[in-house]
Amino acid sequence: MSLLPLALVGAAPGWEWHLPPGVAPPPVPADNPMRAAKVELGRRLFYDADLSLDGTMACATCHEARHGFGDGNTTHPGVTGEAGRRNVPGLANVAWFSPLTHADPGQTTLERQVAVPVMGTHPVEMGMAGRADQIAQRLGRDGCYRRMFAEAFPENDGRIDLDTVAKAIAGFERTLVSYGSAWDHGALDAGAQRGERTFRRACAGCHAGVRFTDLRFHLLGPVDVSAPDQGLYEKTGRADDRGRFRTPSLRNVAMTGPWWHDGSAKSLDEAIARHGLALRPGETVDLIAFLKALDDPAFAANPATRLPDTACGKAL
Ligand code: HEC
Ligand code: HEC
Repeated sequence: MSLLPLALVGAAPGWEWHLPPGVAPPPVPADNPMRAAKVELGRRLFYDADLSLDGTMACATCHEARHGFGDGNTTHPGVTGEAGRRNVPGLANVAWFSPLTHADPGQTTLERQVAVPVMGTHPVEMGMAGRADQIAQRLGRDGCYRRMFAEAFPENDGRIDLDTVAKAIAGFERTLVSYGSAWDHGALDAGAQRGERTFRRACAGCHAGVRFTDLRFHLLGPVDVSAPDQGLYEKTGRADDRGRFRTPSLRNVAMTGPWWHDGSAKSLDEAIARHGLALRPGETVDLIAFLKALDDPAFAANPATRLPDTACGKAL
């Protein structure tokens, strides 16, 4: 048993954040402290299609490392073939994001968000609505999973249920840290440097700070009451929220296209033009050079976030 005061539990003895100077560790819920065994379990679960109705879809099916944990598609259908509604966002630095997703102020923690793809019905993604007990049964059949849950959740006697599954996945997601771009290293060429100056003037009000998002909901352009996706309005019902979406982070943005909440912007040019901002000729070219300097290839290629080769000493 730990004798640490409660407030320190989230800081987790034995867990080290590897962050550049000036980046503070993300908030961690006190009831889900970081722990290596938990992260390893969450990593395996993130790649496990047993969390879906017919065993064909894992988190990683839509959130692919090589796309900065987005995917290359406009939208991605779920297990029943129902079309996706929104573009798959990358997951770089999600540990610091709240609220989560494109337009839902109620999605405040990674732990809660796990239920959206697994159990959600609008749209159906992994298709497990009403079948939480099946997840526990499937995982519980595997002796290695039982061992991993026991190590990850000693305080719950290794209980396997949606709560511990979500906590482990959230723990893994908090390790999807990306601060290794050319911009972080101060390695911008002349075009990207000009782009950064334009960016500071025209973009950084919303794409703010080291994560390039203010995490607020904005309306860009005129309201369209016939648009199939009304954004924030769908959650709040307030007329003023029609067409508002959360500012996306721009880290790894060149890897996570197509862009926009519905994937309808097919190029970075188009994504920038859609904002309706007045830019001088040439400024967009420089802005794109700057945005590309926010790519972190080492993040996309990090073996520690890929499907593990082994679990409990055996090949997976
Ligand atoms: C069928 C594709 C699909 C699958 C499978 C999927 N996701 Fe997603 N994910 C999405 C889409 C689409 C969104 C944006 C949803 C929205 O904004 O309404 C999203 C959003 C997210 C976000 C919010 C990111 C942010 O920037 O706020 C997180 C975190 C996330 N998913 C984690 C997961 C986890 C964990 C799993 C597995 C349990 C998973 N996803 C499975 C498509 C998928
Ligand atoms: C008023 C706030 C605001 C300003 C200013 C702003 N953006 Fe955005 N940006 C957003 C929002 C909100 C979205 C998401 C729109 C959507 O999906 O409907 C977005 C989306 C984007 C995207 C697409 C990202 C993706 O993953 O889909 C890019 C690229 C982008 N912005 C770049 C820029 C650049 C470059 C500038 C400056 C020229 C800029 N933005 C200025 C709020 C802003």
